[in-house]
Amino acid sequence: MKEKISQIVERTMAKIEKLDSAKELNDLKVEVLGKSGELTLILRSLKSVSADERPVVGKIVNDARVELETAFTDKLARLEQIELNERLMKEKIDISIDRKRPIGKVHPLNDIKRKAIDFFVCMGFIVTDSPEIETTYYNFDMLNIPPDHPAREPQDTFFVTDNIILRTQTSAGQIRTMEKIKPPIKMISPGRVFRSDEADATHTPCFHQMEGLVVDKGITMCDLKGTLSSFAKHFFAEDTRIRFRPSHFPFTEPSVEVDVSCVHCGGKGCNVCKGTGWIEILGAGMVNRKVLLGCDIDPDIYTGFAFGVGLDRITAIIHGINDARVPFEGDIRFLKQF
Ligand code: DAH
Repeated sequence: MKEKISQIVERTMAKIEKLDSAKELNDLKVEVLGKSGELTLILRSLKSVSADERPVVGKIVNDARVELETAFTDKLARLEQIELNERLMKEKIDISIDRKRPIGKVHPLNDIKRKAIDFFVCMGFIVTDSPEIETTYYNFDMLNIPPDHPAREPQDTFFVTDNIILRTQTSAGQIRTMEKIKPPIKMISPGRVFRSDEADATHTPCFHQMEGLVVDKGITMCDLKGTLSSFAKHFFAEDTRIRFRPSHFPFTEPSVEVDVSCVHCGGKGCNVCKGTGWIEILGAGMVNRKVLLGCDIDPDIYTGFAFGVGLDRITAIIHGINDARVPFEGDIRFLKQF
Protein backbone atom coordinates (compact mmCIF):
# COMPACT_ATOMS: atom_id res chain seq x y z
CA MET A 1 0.00 0.00 0.00
CA LYS A 2 2.89 2.25 0.89
CA GLU A 3 4.30 1.64 -2.55
CA LYS A 4 1.01 2.38 -4.26
CA ILE A 5 0.71 5.69 -2.41
CA SER A 6 4.17 6.86 -3.38
CA GLN A 7 3.42 5.86 -6.99
CA ILE A 8 0.27 7.99 -6.98
CA VAL A 9 2.20 10.92 -5.49
CA GLU A 10 5.03 10.64 -8.01
CA ARG A 11 2.70 10.31 -11.01
CA THR A 12 0.47 13.16 -9.86
CA MET A 13 3.44 15.45 -9.17
CA ALA A 14 4.77 14.84 -12.70
CA LYS A 15 1.35 15.64 -14.21
CA ILE A 16 1.01 18.81 -12.10
CA GLU A 17 4.35 19.98 -13.42
CA LYS A 18 3.26 19.52 -17.05
CA LEU A 19 -0.24 21.01 -16.92
CA ASP A 20 -0.64 24.66 -17.86
CA SER A 21 -4.35 25.35 -17.44
CA ALA A 22 -6.24 25.92 -14.22
CA LYS A 23 -9.13 23.81 -15.45
CA GLU A 24 -7.02 20.73 -16.19
CA LEU A 25 -5.30 21.18 -12.85
CA ASN A 26 -8.65 21.20 -11.08
CA ASP A 27 -9.83 18.08 -12.94
CA LEU A 28 -6.66 16.30 -11.87
CA LYS A 29 -7.19 17.37 -8.28
CA VAL A 30 -10.71 15.89 -8.30
CA GLU A 31 -9.34 12.67 -9.87
CA VAL A 32 -6.83 12.22 -7.05
CA LEU A 33 -8.14 14.05 -3.99
CA GLY A 34 -11.88 14.37 -4.75
CA LYS A 35 -14.67 12.41 -3.00
CA SER A 36 -14.02 9.32 -5.09
CA GLY A 37 -10.43 10.24 -5.94
CA GLU A 38 -7.63 7.64 -5.91
CA LEU A 39 -6.10 8.77 -2.62
CA THR A 40 -9.50 9.23 -0.95
CA LEU A 41 -10.43 5.66 -1.85
CA ILE A 42 -7.21 4.42 -0.26
CA LEU A 43 -8.02 6.35 2.89
CA ARG A 44 -11.43 4.69 2.98
CA SER A 45 -9.90 1.25 2.49
CA LEU A 46 -7.89 1.72 5.72
CA LYS A 47 -10.73 -0.12 7.49
CA SER A 48 -9.38 -3.33 6.02
CA VAL A 49 -5.88 -2.63 7.36
CA SER A 50 -5.01 -4.21 10.69
CA ALA A 51 -5.40 -2.01 13.76
CA ASP A 52 -1.61 -1.87 14.38
CA GLU A 53 -0.77 -0.78 10.89
CA ARG A 54 -3.63 1.67 10.56
CA PRO A 55 -1.97 4.75 12.21
CA VAL A 56 1.24 4.26 10.18
CA VAL A 57 -0.54 3.87 6.86
CA GLY A 58 -2.98 6.63 7.85
CA LYS A 59 -0.07 9.03 8.41
CA ILE A 60 1.46 8.10 5.04
CA VAL A 61 -1.85 8.79 3.24
CA ASN A 62 -2.28 12.10 5.08
CA ASP A 63 1.26 13.22 4.34
CA ALA A 64 0.71 12.35 0.69
CA ARG A 65 -2.52 14.34 0.71
CA VAL A 66 -0.82 17.40 2.24
CA GLU A 67 2.09 17.16 -0.20
CA LEU A 68 -0.23 16.98 -3.22
CA GLU A 69 -2.53 19.74 -1.98
CA THR A 70 0.46 22.04 -1.52
CA ALA A 71 1.67 21.19 -5.04
CA PHE A 72 -1.77 21.93 -6.53
CA THR A 73 -2.04 25.25 -4.68
CA ASP A 74 1.49 26.33 -5.69
CA LYS A 75 0.95 25.46 -9.34
CA LEU A 76 -2.42 27.22 -9.43
CA ALA A 77 -0.82 30.35 -7.95
CA ARG A 78 1.94 30.22 -10.60
CA LEU A 79 -0.62 29.81 -13.40
CA GLU A 80 -2.68 32.73 -12.08
CA GLN A 81 0.42 34.91 -11.97
CA ILE A 82 1.29 34.04 -15.60
CA GLU A 83 -2.28 34.72 -16.70
CA LEU A 84 -2.29 38.06 -14.84
CA ASN A 85 0.98 39.13 -16.48
CA GLU A 86 -0.39 38.29 -19.92
CA ARG A 87 -3.57 40.26 -19.25
CA LEU A 88 -1.61 43.26 -17.99
CA MET A 89 0.51 43.25 -21.13
CA LYS A 90 -2.60 43.11 -23.33
CA GLU A 91 -4.48 45.80 -21.41
CA LYS A 92 -1.56 48.21 -21.35
CA ILE A 93 -2.79 51.82 -21.84
CA ASP A 94 -0.62 54.22 -23.81
CA ILE A 95 -1.14 57.38 -21.78
CA SER A 96 1.16 59.34 -24.08
CA ILE A 97 -1.60 59.29 -26.73
CA ASP A 98 -3.36 62.09 -24.82
CA ARG A 99 -0.52 64.51 -25.48
CA LYS A 100 -1.14 64.29 -29.21
CA ARG A 101 -4.47 66.11 -28.88
CA PRO A 102 -4.28 69.29 -31.02
CA ILE A 103 -4.14 72.57 -29.13
CA GLY A 104 -6.72 75.17 -30.10
CA LYS A 105 -5.97 78.77 -31.00
CA VAL A 106 -7.67 82.13 -30.93
CA HIS A 107 -9.93 82.71 -33.98
CA PRO A 108 -8.27 85.24 -36.36
CA LEU A 109 -11.16 87.65 -35.88
CA ASN A 110 -10.84 87.57 -32.08
CA ASP A 111 -7.11 87.98 -32.44
CA ILE A 112 -7.60 91.19 -34.45
CA LYS A 113 -10.29 92.37 -32.03
CA ARG A 114 -7.96 91.88 -29.06
CA LYS A 115 -5.14 93.74 -30.81
CA ALA A 116 -7.49 96.63 -31.62
CA ILE A 117 -8.70 96.75 -28.01
CA ASP A 118 -5.07 96.70 -26.76
CA PHE A 119 -4.20 99.65 -29.01
CA PHE A 120 -7.06 101.85 -27.78
CA VAL A 121 -6.69 100.82 -24.13
CA CYS A 122 -3.04 101.94 -24.36
CA MET A 123 -4.35 105.30 -25.64
CA GLY A 124 -6.53 105.64 -22.51
CA PHE A 125 -9.88 104.45 -23.90
CA ILE A 126 -12.28 102.42 -21.73
CA VAL A 127 -14.01 99.34 -23.16
CA THR A 128 -17.81 99.27 -22.88
CA ASP A 129 -20.42 96.68 -23.79
CA SER A 130 -23.96 97.24 -24.98
CA PRO A 131 -26.84 94.90 -25.83
CA GLU A 132 -27.09 92.95 -29.09
CA ILE A 133 -30.87 93.00 -28.75
CA GLU A 134 -31.50 96.73 -28.83
CA THR A 135 -34.36 99.20 -29.00
CA THR A 136 -35.02 101.35 -32.07
CA TYR A 137 -34.67 104.25 -29.62
CA TYR A 138 -30.92 103.61 -29.09
CA ASN A 139 -30.12 102.14 -32.49
CA PHE A 140 -31.93 104.83 -34.54
CA ASP A 141 -33.84 107.64 -32.76
CA MET A 142 -31.06 108.83 -30.47
CA LEU A 143 -28.58 108.62 -33.35
CA ASN A 144 -30.66 111.10 -35.35
CA ILE A 145 -31.81 108.44 -37.80
CA PRO A 146 -35.35 109.52 -38.83
CA PRO A 147 -38.34 107.12 -38.90
CA ASP A 148 -38.38 107.05 -42.71
CA HIS A 149 -34.67 106.17 -43.05
CA PRO A 150 -34.08 103.15 -45.33
CA ALA A 151 -32.01 101.40 -42.60
CA ARG A 152 -35.27 100.95 -40.72
CA GLU A 153 -36.79 98.81 -43.47
CA PRO A 154 -37.28 95.11 -42.59
CA GLN A 155 -35.05 94.10 -45.51
CA ASP A 156 -32.13 95.84 -43.74
CA THR A 157 -32.89 95.20 -40.07
CA PHE A 158 -33.97 92.15 -38.04
CA PHE A 159 -37.06 93.22 -36.10
CA VAL A 160 -38.07 91.39 -32.91
CA THR A 161 -41.07 93.69 -32.32
CA ASP A 162 -41.90 97.12 -33.77
CA ASN A 163 -39.40 98.78 -31.47
CA ILE A 164 -37.00 95.97 -30.53
CA ILE A 165 -34.37 94.90 -33.07
CA LEU A 166 -31.01 93.15 -33.36
CA ARG A 167 -28.61 96.12 -33.33
CA THR A 168 -27.45 97.06 -36.82
CA GLN A 169 -24.45 99.03 -35.57
CA THR A 170 -22.36 99.38 -32.41
CA SER A 171 -23.11 103.14 -32.59
CA ALA A 172 -26.03 102.49 -30.19
CA GLY A 173 -23.29 102.03 -27.57
CA GLN A 174 -22.34 105.73 -27.95
CA ILE A 175 -25.71 106.80 -26.59
CA ARG A 176 -25.73 104.26 -23.76
CA THR A 177 -22.26 105.49 -22.74
CA MET A 178 -23.12 109.21 -22.92
CA GLU A 179 -26.23 108.58 -20.79
CA LYS A 180 -24.06 107.02 -18.08
CA ILE A 181 -20.80 108.98 -18.21
CA LYS A 182 -20.30 112.69 -18.78
CA PRO A 183 -17.23 114.14 -20.60
CA PRO A 184 -14.34 113.66 -20.77
CA ILE A 185 -15.26 110.37 -22.52
CA LYS A 186 -12.88 108.08 -24.38
CA MET A 187 -14.46 104.74 -25.08
CA ILE A 188 -14.51 101.84 -27.51
CA SER A 189 -17.28 99.28 -27.81
CA PRO A 190 -16.61 96.14 -29.87
CA GLY A 191 -19.27 93.58 -30.69
CA ARG A 192 -21.55 91.73 -33.08
CA VAL A 193 -24.04 93.54 -35.29
CA PHE A 194 -26.80 92.15 -37.50
CA ARG A 195 -28.37 93.05 -40.84
CA SER A 196 -30.88 91.04 -42.82
CA ASP A 197 -28.52 90.49 -45.74
CA GLU A 198 -28.25 87.31 -47.80
CA ALA A 199 -24.81 85.80 -47.13
CA ASP A 200 -22.44 86.14 -50.09
CA ALA A 201 -18.72 86.76 -50.61
CA THR A 202 -18.98 90.32 -49.24
CA HIS A 203 -21.97 90.13 -46.83
CA THR A 204 -22.91 88.07 -43.78
CA PRO A 205 -26.06 88.65 -41.69
CA CYS A 206 -23.87 88.90 -38.58
CA PHE A 207 -20.57 90.76 -38.51
CA HIS A 208 -18.34 92.65 -36.09
CA GLN A 209 -17.76 96.33 -35.48
CA MET A 210 -15.81 98.38 -33.01
CA GLU A 211 -17.23 101.74 -32.10
CA GLY A 212 -15.06 104.58 -30.82
CA LEU A 213 -16.17 107.78 -29.11
CA VAL A 214 -14.24 110.73 -27.70
CA VAL A 215 -16.05 113.70 -26.17
CA ASP A 216 -14.26 116.54 -24.40
CA LYS A 217 -13.63 120.27 -24.58
CA GLY A 218 -11.82 121.30 -27.76
CA ILE A 219 -11.91 117.98 -29.65
CA THR A 220 -11.45 118.60 -33.40
CA MET A 221 -11.16 116.62 -36.58
CA CYS A 222 -7.37 116.75 -36.15
CA ASP A 223 -7.77 114.52 -33.09
CA LEU A 224 -9.83 112.11 -35.16
CA LYS A 225 -7.29 112.04 -37.94
CA GLY A 226 -4.32 111.64 -35.57
CA THR A 227 -6.01 108.81 -33.66
CA LEU A 228 -7.02 106.89 -36.78
CA SER A 229 -3.65 107.47 -38.43
CA SER A 230 -1.82 105.95 -35.40
CA PHE A 231 -4.29 103.07 -35.40
CA ALA A 232 -3.68 102.35 -39.11
CA LYS A 233 0.11 102.46 -38.66
CA HIS A 234 -0.11 100.16 -35.64
CA PHE A 235 -2.35 97.71 -37.44
CA PHE A 236 -1.01 97.59 -40.95
CA ALA A 237 2.47 99.07 -41.44
CA GLU A 238 4.49 102.03 -40.18
CA ASP A 239 4.23 103.78 -43.58
CA THR A 240 0.43 103.34 -43.92
CA ARG A 241 -1.36 106.59 -44.86
CA ILE A 242 -5.04 107.37 -44.33
CA ARG A 243 -7.39 109.60 -46.28
CA PHE A 244 -10.77 111.10 -45.45
CA ARG A 245 -13.55 111.16 -48.03
CA PRO A 246 -16.68 113.23 -47.40
CA SER A 247 -19.67 111.08 -46.51
CA HIS A 248 -22.94 111.17 -44.65
CA PHE A 249 -24.01 109.59 -41.37
CA PRO A 250 -26.97 111.13 -39.51
CA PHE A 251 -25.14 111.02 -36.14
CA THR A 252 -21.97 112.81 -37.26
CA GLU A 253 -21.50 116.19 -38.91
CA PRO A 254 -19.27 116.41 -40.86
CA SER A 255 -18.96 112.71 -41.71
CA VAL A 256 -16.16 110.92 -43.48
CA GLU A 257 -15.30 107.55 -44.87
CA VAL A 258 -11.75 106.55 -44.07
CA ASP A 259 -9.41 104.69 -46.41
CA VAL A 260 -5.94 103.28 -45.72
CA SER A 261 -3.21 103.07 -48.35
CA CYS A 262 -3.29 99.51 -49.71
CA VAL A 263 -1.33 97.19 -47.42
CA HIS A 264 -0.56 94.86 -50.29
CA CYS A 265 0.81 97.22 -52.95
CA GLY A 266 1.62 100.28 -50.80
CA GLY A 267 -0.70 102.44 -52.93
CA LYS A 268 0.45 101.58 -56.45
CA GLY A 269 -2.73 99.69 -57.28
CA CYS A 270 -3.36 95.92 -57.21
CA ASN A 271 -6.30 93.53 -57.24
CA VAL A 272 -6.82 93.82 -53.45
CA CYS A 273 -7.44 97.60 -53.73
CA LYS A 274 -9.03 97.17 -57.17
CA GLY A 275 -6.35 99.33 -58.74
CA THR A 276 -7.15 102.40 -56.61
CA GLY A 277 -4.29 102.15 -54.09
CA TRP A 278 -6.79 102.66 -51.20
CA ILE A 279 -8.94 100.39 -49.04
CA GLU A 280 -11.98 101.63 -47.10
CA ILE A 281 -11.94 100.49 -43.46
CA LEU A 282 -14.31 102.67 -41.48
CA GLY A 283 -16.86 105.45 -41.12
CA ALA A 284 -16.30 108.39 -38.80
CA GLY A 285 -17.08 112.03 -38.09
CA MET A 286 -17.62 114.74 -35.53
CA VAL A 287 -20.50 113.87 -33.17
CA ASN A 288 -23.66 115.66 -34.33
CA ARG A 289 -24.81 118.46 -32.00
CA LYS A 290 -28.28 116.89 -31.90
CA VAL A 291 -26.81 113.62 -30.54
CA LEU A 292 -24.89 115.46 -27.78
CA LEU A 293 -28.00 117.46 -26.86
CA GLY A 294 -30.09 114.26 -26.68
CA CYS A 295 -27.64 112.94 -24.10
CA ASP A 296 -27.68 116.16 -22.04
CA ILE A 297 -24.21 117.23 -23.10
CA ASP A 298 -23.86 120.90 -24.04
CA PRO A 299 -22.53 121.05 -27.65
CA ASP A 300 -21.37 124.66 -27.11
CA ILE A 301 -18.92 123.42 -24.46
CA TYR A 302 -18.11 119.91 -25.64
CA THR A 303 -17.29 118.45 -29.03
CA GLY A 304 -16.43 114.92 -29.98
CA PHE A 305 -15.52 112.47 -32.68
CA ALA A 306 -16.80 108.97 -33.33
CA PHE A 307 -15.85 106.13 -35.60
CA GLY A 308 -17.01 102.61 -36.43
CA VAL A 309 -14.51 100.05 -37.72
CA GLY A 310 -15.47 96.86 -39.53
CA LEU A 311 -13.41 94.23 -37.71
CA ASP A 312 -14.20 91.48 -40.22
CA ARG A 313 -12.92 93.71 -42.98
CA ILE A 314 -9.63 94.47 -41.24
CA THR A 315 -9.16 90.74 -40.54
CA ALA A 316 -9.82 89.95 -44.21
CA ILE A 317 -7.35 92.59 -45.41
CA ILE A 318 -4.59 91.47 -43.04
CA HIS A 319 -4.99 87.76 -43.78
CA GLY A 320 -6.02 88.00 -47.44
CA ILE A 321 -9.43 86.36 -46.85
CA ASN A 322 -11.55 86.84 -49.97
CA ASP A 323 -14.88 85.37 -48.82
CA ALA A 324 -16.69 86.97 -45.85
CA ARG A 325 -18.57 83.74 -45.06
CA VAL A 326 -15.53 81.55 -44.43
CA PRO A 327 -14.49 82.92 -40.98
CA PHE A 328 -18.00 82.04 -39.68
CA GLU A 329 -17.94 78.42 -40.81
CA GLY A 330 -15.66 77.04 -38.08
CA ASP A 331 -13.88 74.90 -40.68
CA ILE A 332 -10.76 73.56 -39.00
CA ARG A 333 -8.83 73.58 -42.33
CA PHE A 334 -9.34 77.34 -42.55
CA LEU A 335 -8.63 78.05 -38.87
CA LYS A 336 -5.44 75.97 -38.84
CA GLN A 337 -3.78 78.44 -41.19
CA PHE A 338 -3.48 81.17 -38.58
N1 DAH B 1 -22.39 102.90 -37.69
C1 DAH B 1 -21.85 103.11 -39.00
C2 DAH B 1 -22.14 101.90 -39.89
O1 DAH B 1 -22.46 100.86 -39.36
C3 DAH B 1 -20.36 103.34 -38.96
C4 DAH B 1 -20.01 104.64 -38.32
C5 DAH B 1 -19.93 105.77 -39.08
C6 DAH B 1 -19.79 104.72 -36.96
C7 DAH B 1 -19.61 106.99 -38.55
C8 DAH B 1 -19.48 105.95 -36.39
C9 DAH B 1 -19.38 107.07 -37.19
O2 DAH B 1 -19.27 106.11 -35.10
O3 DAH B 1 -19.07 108.26 -36.62
O4 DAH B 1 -22.04 101.98 -41.06
